[in-house]
Amino acid sequence: MDKLIIQGGGPLHGEVWISGSKNSALPILSATLLCEGLATVSNLPHLQDVTTTIELLGTLGVTVSISERMELEVDNTTLHSLTAPYDLVKTMRASILVLGPMLSRYGEANVSFPGGCAIGSRPVDLHLRGLEAMGAKITIEDGYIKAKARTDGRLVGCRILMDIVSVGATENLMMAAVLARGQTVIENAAREPEIVDLANCLNAWGADVQGAGSNRLVINGVEKIVGGHFRVMPDRIETGTYLAAAVATRGKIRVTQTDPSSLEAVLLKLRETGAEITQGDDWIELDMHGKRPKAVSLRTAPYPAFPTDMQAQLTAINAVAEGTGVVTETIFENRLMQVQELNRMGASITVEGNTAVVTGVERLKAAPVMASDLRASAALVIAALVADGETIVDRIYHIDRGYECIEEKLQLLGAKIKRVPG
Ligand code: UD1
Repeated sequence: MDKLIIQGGGPLHGEVWISGSKNSALPILSATLLCEGLATVSNLPHLQDVTTTIELLGTLGVTVSISERMELEVDNTTLHSLTAPYDLVKTMRASILVLGPMLSRYGEANVSFPGGCAIGSRPVDLHLRGLEAMGAKITIEDGYIKAKARTDGRLVGCRILMDIVSVGATENLMMAAVLARGQTVIENAAREPEIVDLANCLNAWGADVQGAGSNRLVINGVEKIVGGHFRVMPDRIETGTYLAAAVATRGKIRVTQTDPSSLEAVLLKLRETGAEITQGDDWIELDMHGKRPKAVSLRTAPYPAFPTDMQAQLTAINAVAEGTGVVTETIFENRLMQVQELNRMGASITVEGNTAVVTGVERLKAAPVMASDLRASAALVIAALVADGETIVDRIYHIDRGYECIEEKLQLLGAKIKRVPG
């Protein structure tokens, strides 16, 4: 297993570009299943989860070709299977996102039931209930979700009230509704920028999705969508992670090819740490003027509030900040796993339930640490960048799921980091 070796020290400085959004790319790749014609998707990040999704499409018989610029061409006419197998789904829960489009387009879908994951149990009940409300018959057999549309092969539009705000369920049901008969209304829909990106993509391909970005989505079913080209939005969490690393290291960086408007809550908190932030249409500059960050308190919640995917990175900032920050995680039940590893590096963090109380220390000390999930790993990398000595971060396949070329990008910012194949 590859490891990262990071020599802590100086502030990050320089410029880094932001890749396409992983969490936007995965539903958009699944949405290609809805198209009758060719779909092309650009600005895909070069990440394991994207590769897994491409592999999944390939397993279904879809012809996928990739250009050197990571532009993907998807042709469904060769599809010969409606089963997303256990071997792939177990490596990536987002595989569940093929369920809605496959069922909507082909009238049938079998998807291995995703298991739990490191950050919590992560059920899919909202996905299934919504599809049932649209007329699907769903059974669980041999660990598989087996879904069938009515005898005419089509789902039927209806009103769906989501009792929890779920990004994935909103996406799955939005995609299912695109080819359903009549109108679907999703109340209490997630409002994340990735939802808006997916809706823009579906509309560009011929769908009729209204209200994305609000908590009420109205989808007017169409007979078919043709396909076409779409460019995935920049990754707001990758953006936030580099900015957080600059705050922790008291640095000055510029991130480019990003979208500041998708990061309001994060930028608000980073400003509270003392960072001076300026932004343009597609860039952000952050300058700590060499000062130690101030601790910040936060509570994660669905967009537009502070994202759970940035919680661990802010915990790492607090670990070396002046003062005490209280960090409350409300989305996932087990998402403070970075804390134990940060404490092994000399941080002073106590956890009670879903809240971490972080008292900043002057210096962290390097230690061998283990990545446990994607964003917890990002927190460990940030901590390693400010720690005294050489930190070895093990199990970095978690990081590779969400951060394209992390060591190259951090090297661009002056970090002493290298990957050691294991
Ligand atoms: C997506 C993101 C993930 C992010 C999360 C929350 C992708 C690929 N992943 O995950 O990075 O951390 O949104 O912003 O886009 N829930 C249920 N029943 C369901 C579905 C969800 O109870 O059927 C619960 C979950 O357990 C969790 C909450 O709803 O407590 C929110 O989860 P959800 O928004 O669905 O997260 P994902 O879509 O899996």
